[in-house]
Amino acid sequence: MSFENPGTPLNAMTMLAGQIGSCRKCALSLSRIKTVPGEGPAPCRVMLIGEGPGKKEDESGRPFVGRAGAILSDLLARIDLSREEVFITSVVKCRPPKNRAPVKEEIAACMPFLDRQIAILSPEILVPMGRVAASAIFSRYGVAFPSFSEVRGKRFSVNEKDTGREMSIIPVYHPAVITHNPPARAALEEDFIRLGEILHTLD
Ligand code: URA
Repeated sequence: MSFENPGTPLNAMTMLAGQIGSCRKCALSLSRIKTVPGEGPAPCRVMLIGEGPGKKEDESGRPFVGRAGAILSDLLARIDLSREEVFITSVVKCRPPKNRAPVKEEIAACMPFLDRQIAILSPEILVPMGRVAASAIFSRYGVAFPSFSEVRGKRFSVNEKDTGREMSIIPVYHPAVITHNPPARAALEEDFIRLGEILHTLD
């Protein structure tokens, strides 16, 4: 896939959103209502990466606007971050039917868009949320992924694909975890508090 170089990060993101909007590289494009490229400042310091859009996101074209989104906004507020200060996206930009996890081929088809977003936005920190996003990001950057529980809340250093610039990856639980596993709330909050602490050390 080739991308043009259209000037400012904001212009580049707008152009990229257009390319995502017309993508037909995998079967998710057949069932989607809207593509969900993501939203937030360009450039950005922190990039939050979920698994894939759900029903509300598919209908609106905006990331994390459903139940998981409300939980995410609350977690961010607790570490003094607003949604407007971070870029929010997912590994796949179209909704997997019935909210199933995206499969390997769908993630691979969509990864050039995430790579391009990272190149444009120059984030300091990538925050994959949940096992699916963490495993996709770790594999993309060639970092060993023994299990989600072993990597969550820890910081890993990698080099950005295009420029070699150093970035951190800090995996956290997916906000939706507490909708099907309420006792995981403490671990989820712990991960975001740890993220806030690491952000402060980088200030
Ligand atoms: N879950 C995700 O991973 N992404 C969204 O946009 C919404 C819910």
